[in-house]
Amino acid sequence: MCGIVGYIGRDRAGSVMLDGLKRLEYRGYDSAGMAIMNGQGLETTRRTGRVAELEKALGNSPGGRLGISHTRWATHGDVTEENAHPHVSSDEKIAVVHNGVIENYLSMKKFLIEKGYTFQSETDTEALANLIAYHYAKEPEVAGKSRFLESVRKSLRHVEGAYGIAVICTDYPDELIGARKGSPLIVGIGKGENLIASDVNAITQCTQNVIYLNDGEVVHLQKEEFAITSASSKDVEAIIHQVDWDTSEAELGDFQHFMEKEIFEQPTALENGMRGRFSDDGSTAFFGGLNLSPRDLCNVDRILFIACGTAWHACLVAEYLIERYARIPVEVEYASEFRYRNAPLDKNTLVFAISQSGETIDTLAALREAKRKGYRTLSINNSVGSTIARECDGGIYQHAGPEIGVASTKAFTSQVMLAAMVALYLGRIRNLSFDQGTQIVEALKELPKQVREILGQSDHIASIAKKYAQAEDFLFLGRQLMFPIALEGALKLKEVSYIHAEGYPAAEMKHGPIALISPECPSVFLATSGGIFPKSLANMQEVKARKGPIICVASEDCDLPAEIIDDLIKVPESHDIVRPILMSIPVQLLSYYIALERGCDVDKPRNLAKSVTVE
Ligand code: AGP
Ligand code: GLU
Repeated sequence: MCGIVGYIGRDRAGSVMLDGLKRLEYRGYDSAGMAIMNGQGLETTRRTGRVAELEKALGNSPGGRLGISHTRWATHGDVTEENAHPHVSSDEKIAVVHNGVIENYLSMKKFLIEKGYTFQSETDTEALANLIAYHYAKEPEVAGKSRFLESVRKSLRHVEGAYGIAVICTDYPDELIGARKGSPLIVGIGKGENLIASDVNAITQCTQNVIYLNDGEVVHLQKEEFAITSASSKDVEAIIHQVDWDTSEAELGDFQHFMEKEIFEQPTALENGMRGRFSDDGSTAFFGGLNLSPRDLCNVDRILFIACGTAWHACLVAEYLIERYARIPVEVEYASEFRYRNAPLDKNTLVFAISQSGETIDTLAALREAKRKGYRTLSINNSVGSTIARECDGGIYQHAGPEIGVASTKAFTSQVMLAAMVALYLGRIRNLSFDQGTQIVEALKELPKQVREILGQSDHIASIAKKYAQAEDFLFLGRQLMFPIALEGALKLKEVSYIHAEGYPAAEMKHGPIALISPECPSVFLATSGGIFPKSLANMQEVKARKGPIICVASEDCDLPAEIIDDLIKVPESHDIVRPILMSIPVQLLSYYIALERGCDVDKPRNLAKSVTVE
């Protein structure tokens, strides 16, 4: 979580960092702060709340040639101004912004207090600021070496846990240092100015030239120069990537919220994700970056999907689809559980991670665990150059465009679509016929148009939202492929409206959740036609018999008795493989409009952050 921006170069540090923080705010919004070196020394400004509060405190166009800044998602210590970053050492020499958790901060703090350093905050980060100051004070002057850099390096050797940091020192007004282990950090190389940030998004207003730091690396920046060293202090030959980032994509345009914008962008996101990925004969999909041949894939006996949150729901859809169309056994695990479980895996298991950000620490750690054990790893992710994308053996980029709303919408449907395409690809290598393949490709190509049709019902869905917005409990129910969508529907509603919601396989409802049913607890049923439909209908009857209101999202050809449905949202008929995507759109819109009715901050829901980079 948290966003970091550091700047060195021209006299515009404050305004560049402020702009960057605004673009990173979705990573954490408990407090924001900035330290700028001006001619008179270090000027630190910190505020609780949003970046806008910091902006007010800083006034017009804050300048400076060197600075660090931060938007916080609190892990250690309340949301207070004292705990906001940057943290300055008690000798006022060193200022640090930090993303992550320093696990051994208590022993560090004890040691430093004994040495006479004092603490103003409850954070783990302040221990690092003081530790660097401690090493700095002891570091001898050696010609041709930066004492500041040496003291940062020495301090980091004692840190257990995860960090992405930017550090400045009052004695070195021309140097900025960054380092990472576990938390993301990138370096932007500009003309007469250089930057550090958590995410490319924050720096593209200055430069498109980016270096992705690896774990253990330390970057030493001056306005015209940079040097990167590895954990073992060896020089690293950095690769500068040109990022192809259209900053307008990360702006609101005519929409009120990013969540709304991203829901409505889904037809385009889906088109971008499938572009150039169908075979010329129109019977299968292919992916450029898998780095696995069809022969390698034939030898895969099992696939393990790992992810967190919404991406985990996309994995569940992948399980249903790959097992159905490619007949390969699939397991899905929460990345955080897999990491510590030491699960026995067959040697021909392929490990597949799904992550919008490509930076989720639990997913990354689980992936590293799988790699350590020698498994092949692939990923689906939306963030080009992210750590997960770089560390996997191969992968598929979503090309869904930046997702800024904390609640994932377009990234989810894009992940599900790519999971469907993977199922098709693997199925065609194994047992799907040419005809079956072409039907699926046609269904996928139809998808953006069908999603547009559903989006055209937004007013209808908004009116349903109005009717139920004051409910305090919701159930989301669906069978088979609709079960993961029920889970995702419940998560979306919880995240943005703070309503208690649960997703269940519709039949499972009888084994407990039915106790919640009452006229005050609406159920959202996700019903598709086919063999299982009569069973779903029976579950709806069971809810109705207990006077529970029913909102039904159903494919057009479902024959639904009007007397049991309170509100109906129709979804175009389609091939089964794309139904999870189509059925997701109404539940996203429903959550969005309910949250608006309740006056919630949909893009920055309480307690959440977009990219979870702490365990
Ligand atoms: C989505 O609405 C959530 N905010 C969250 O569950 C998210 O999906 C999860 O943290 C995983 O993120 P990732 O896809 O970036 O790895
Ligand atoms: N652990 C630090 C804190 O609580 C940093 C958290 C973050 O990543 O924002 O302030």
